[in-house]
Amino acid sequence: MDKLQQIIHERPSFHRSETEIDRSFDPSESLLPREAAAKLASVELTCYGLGSDVLSFIAESVSEGSQTLETGAGCSTLVFAMRGSEHIAITPSKSEIALITQYALQREIPLSKVHFVQESSDRYLGRCEVEGLDLVLLDGKHAFPWPIVDWFFTADRLREGGMMVIDDAQMRSVAILAEFMGVDPGWQLIRDFSGKTLAFRKLRDSIHDVTWHMQPFTVVQPVGTALGPSLLRRLARRLKRLVQGQR
Ligand SMILES: C[S@@+](CC[C@H](N)C(=O)[O-])C[C@H]1O[C@@H](n2cnc3c(N)ncnc32)[C@H](O)[C@@H]1O
Repeated sequence: MDKLQQIIHERPSFHRSETEIDRSFDPSESLLPREAAAKLASVELTCYGLGSDVLSFIAESVSEGSQTLETGAGCSTLVFAMRGSEHIAITPSKSEIALITQYALQREIPLSKVHFVQESSDRYLGRCEVEGLDLVLLDGKHAFPWPIVDWFFTADRLREGGMMVIDDAQMRSVAILAEFMGVDPGWQLIRDFSGKTLAFRKLRDSIHDVTWHMQPFTVVQPVGTALGPSLLRRLARRLKRLVQGQR
């Protein structure tokens, strides 16, 4: 079995049940049903790894010489390592880094090109100066607005033609980002993994070089509109096609 298949098959447990806050909590603090909340509040280790289709897609998209970055760490980090990309993995969890390192050593997956940053992404990314990334994976903290903060700080670290992969688009905090990218002329959706994980190609050199009235997301969806969201999305896509046609 090759190493990718081994990771997919074994789905190693690197993650604490709750990774986003560094304290124990009572299930009553969560808005989830009691059973799901109790599971998250437990101290078990688990695997929150990306789906096998997404891991394979990343493996196909990355090679030696690629420069990559992810928020969060886990099976995905092993895939970047295996493919030999110059990789930054950001996670506040010391135990995750130790477990991933141990697993990689046992399976002879080289970590020499993986740079772990043991910090919260919102603190690190503001001072990160890497340029010309080929692929960014956003799969760190999912509470609002972290996915958007992570996106904001990484979008222009990605080269034109590079790829941004966002996970858990079924969650509202990520869905907003997916909706924006889906209608923005700076991005093109290239893969949709059952609506959960989405891969976008960056079509412009700079995403930050923009004003609000150049963004279909901002202009075409006025607050309190009588039009339904799906019609608005269609209008925004049409506007995006028009804008792209003019370039
Ligand atoms: C869904 S898991 C990532 C799974 C990983 N992509 C994989 O394939 O195994 C979420 C990750 O985000 C990390 N995380 C939680 N809070 C974070 C934060 N503030 N900044 C960066 N990463 C964070 C967790 O420690 C965990 O590694």
